[in-house]
Amino acid sequence: MSLFRKKSISAMSADAGHDGHGHGLNKILTVKDLTYLGIAAVVGAGIFSTIGSAAADGGPGISLLFVITAITCGFSALCYAEFASRVPVSGSAYTYAYVSFGELVAWIIGWALILEYAIGNIVVAISWSSYFNNLLQGINIHLPFWMTTNSSAASEAYTAVQQSLATGKVADADMLEIINGYNSAPMLMGHKLFMNIPAFVIVALITALAYKGIQESKKSANAMVIFKIAVIILVIILGFFYVNTDNWNPFMPNGFKGVLQGVSAVFYAYIGFDAISTTAEECKNPQRDLPRGMMYSLLICTILYILIALVLTGMVNYSELNVDDPLAYVFDKLGLKWIGYIISISAVIATTSVLLVFQLGQPRIWMSMSRDGLLPGAFGKIHPKYKTPAFATIVTGLLVGIPTLFVPGSLMTDLTSIGTLFAFVIVSGGVLLLPRINGNQQAGKFKLPYINGQIIIPVLVAAFIYAFRTRFSEAISNFGHENHQEILFLLFVAIAIVVAVYSILKKLSVIPVLGALSCMYLMIEIPTISWLWFFAWMVLGLALYFVYGYRKSKLANTAA
Ligand code: ALA
Repeated sequence: MSLFRKKSISAMSADAGHDGHGHGLNKILTVKDLTYLGIAAVVGAGIFSTIGSAAADGGPGISLLFVITAITCGFSALCYAEFASRVPVSGSAYTYAYVSFGELVAWIIGWALILEYAIGNIVVAISWSSYFNNLLQGINIHLPFWMTTNSSAASEAYTAVQQSLATGKVADADMLEIINGYNSAPMLMGHKLFMNIPAFVIVALITALAYKGIQESKKSANAMVIFKIAVIILVIILGFFYVNTDNWNPFMPNGFKGVLQGVSAVFYAYIGFDAISTTAEECKNPQRDLPRGMMYSLLICTILYILIALVLTGMVNYSELNVDDPLAYVFDKLGLKWIGYIISISAVIATTSVLLVFQLGQPRIWMSMSRDGLLPGAFGKIHPKYKTPAFATIVTGLLVGIPTLFVPGSLMTDLTSIGTLFAFVIVSGGVLLLPRINGNQQAGKFKLPYINGQIIIPVLVAAFIYAFRTRFSEAISNFGHENHQEILFLLFVAIAIVVAVYSILKKLSVIPVLGALSCMYLMIEIPTISWLWFFAWMVLGLALYFVYGYRKSKLANTAA
């Protein structure tokens, strides 16, 4: 059926210029650069911001969630690595889906990746702006309130101040700034105007850098990574001396349920190691180095994250951590303001590097989609001088930059996590469809170890159902009356059972199956309201495919 027409791996490689007819992207990245780029993409708004709300819900137990999420990402990273080694082309999960599941799924994934890259970057830009404002205020520069926030965040802040004043509290300088700032906002067509100008400006600057070239981008990313890792290690070491082990008790104050509330925030912190697969065509030896770069960056970030989670929840009571800048906050609270300031500088730098990698990644995915005819040709055009996908880079800049002026960040985090997990599920599933390579493996290439899942998968699924037996039986006995989240849970259990049966029958490989199942599990823990947005986004994507890509697809036209 034409919806599932597949592109062959050799055609992919030929299109990307691996057949000796290069398309002119600069092939300069080494395994070290890729590891740096991975860390550049991973360590950012998640560990500097969203970890706070996760810790406030889950307590010290979120360190466990960091471990669970790391294992989940580890399975997916192995699957990405297998694909990256077999299909060294820039499109990341989109490309991988094209060779395994065919065109429709490839398009769906390409569309979902916009959530990871562009929508994800909206969150990062907003977080960047708030840390940047902290820094400016630290040196007594106060931008007008209306140009540092969006209207929904401004109204929330204003209402919170009003409520607090109503309880008899006396207004401090920060509160006065919000009240005066809100009241003096300029009017546009009868509405108060709020725009997050710093967020827009940083996106514009990063877009210019990405437009100019991978060489410049690589150098900037490497320098930023060294600094942010140094600061994170400083936080861990210094913080360690201020840990009060009483704070770790109880370990899960709101039970495992409380821990799970942090799924989207914690997963968000890990997103990015996969982004380096979009630079496949700019690597010296993608088949060897991409898998390694992904693994190394994931491993380094995992160790740092678990330590940060333990230190953070050990320094203060978990309930105090629901702030935008938890790492700086804990040191401020101890009177170590200068460390808080260094952390804020580092947060600005960390989020800048995340912005850069994602702003590089999105156009490269579009470039692959355009080559396949699913997007107009302009998206695939390479700048003659800078050797970058120039038009796609500018469109990415606009797609991220304009919303950062106006939209609030919270829902965007959930949407980013859900979209990325979805891509991970497809990549893991896709590995199961790849033809097995027996022997003749090219030296240095990565190969995913095959472990027979005939027994392991059913045992693990049974253990999962046993561990969640109370939730399972409650959801069953409430059938028809339970909330939507529990319907997702039952659906997941049903899928897991089917997969277990398949594993018995088809001897499925353990790593990709666990990759897909564990990502699905994290997905169903994300609030259902975000699922609705996700579905709406997907429906829009499908409509576009049938209006444009289905007809214009190169594969369709070649076949015809
Ligand atoms: N993992 C990236 C961050 O935390 C998206 O900013």
